[in-house]
Amino acid sequence: LDLDIILAEKRTAFQDYLAAYLTSREGTGGIWEACAYSLSSGGKRLRPILAMLACEASGSEAALSLPVGLAIEMIHTFSLIHDDLPAIDNDDLRRGRPTCHRQFGEASAILAGDALIFSAISVIAEADYSAQIKADLLRELARAGGVDGLVQGEHADIMAEGRTVTPDEIRTIHRQKTAALFELCMYAGARVAGADAETTRALTSCGQHLGLAFQVIDDILDVIATPDTLGKTTGKDARQGKATMVGILGLEEARRWAQQATDTAVDCLKGLSGTAVEALRTLTAQLLLRVM
Ligand code: FPP
Ligand code: MG
Repeated sequence: LDLDIILAEKRTAFQDYLAAYLTSREGTGGIWEACAYSLSSGGKRLRPILAMLACEASGSEAALSLPVGLAIEMIHTFSLIHDDLPAIDNDDLRRGRPTCHRQFGEASAILAGDALIFSAISVIAEADYSAQIKADLLRELARAGGVDGLVQGEHADIMAEGRTVTPDEIRTIHRQKTAALFELCMYAGARVAGADAETTRALTSCGQHLGLAFQVIDDILDVIATPDTLGKTTGKDARQGKATMVGILGLEEARRWAQQATDTAVDCLKGLSGTAVEALRTLTAQLLLRVM
């Protein structure tokens, strides 16, 4: 299995799909310009890739998940734009470029984030999925994004700054602010492929644990990596008094924590087989290697 080839192929498929979408909206001007700027900045495109792999692991063509993958990437991009705002993390650099508010001003960045949520809904509503699949995707997207997911996790993350928090509290924050979207990607890939309940459960659990590992890895990278390799400012968590696993457990324990979540994610896939499942396993393991 050559993971690099599989990932490059999936990434290209997503980039092409996104490019076609951007072209279809070209010349719109207005707030879309700021949306398109952030959406088309580099980024690993991990979420749409996960949706594609989950779709393939469920026995369908990966391309079937491109619309919902784009919708999730839009939600992810909204969350990055707002996370970078002066009122939240106040960052100048994202995906190797000036942040949205640095480029377009704060008001436009707020509105671009807002607009991307609605664009995500539109992309699903207008996709070539059955009415039942659209309803399921929109329900799960709202659940992952809202007051029990991404937005709540971000709020709890901000409220935890400068406070003593337990590993359990941090885990809940990570589950909401990061893992919810990973879980959604896996659910979405499985759902559009018409996967059975057991496969869907296995893939979504994998997504949840992968997301939990991913956030701790992200926090470790904040300590050990450079802005050049990450395309964003590093060393900020400590300066801002962020509640992170690294902060409360130390680097080595945090690594062990990420390792355990990674193992659990891989374990969730044990009942499944095929090239896409193998790719999911290898990708999960490879994400951890960034910090080992
Ligand atoms: C980096 O993803 C992003 C995370 C690790 C998630 C952090 C969570 C937030 C910023 C929540 C913000 C929520 C709101 C509501 C403002 P990545 O490494 O995949 O980034 P990439 O797409 O640029 O590669
Ligand atoms: Mg933040």
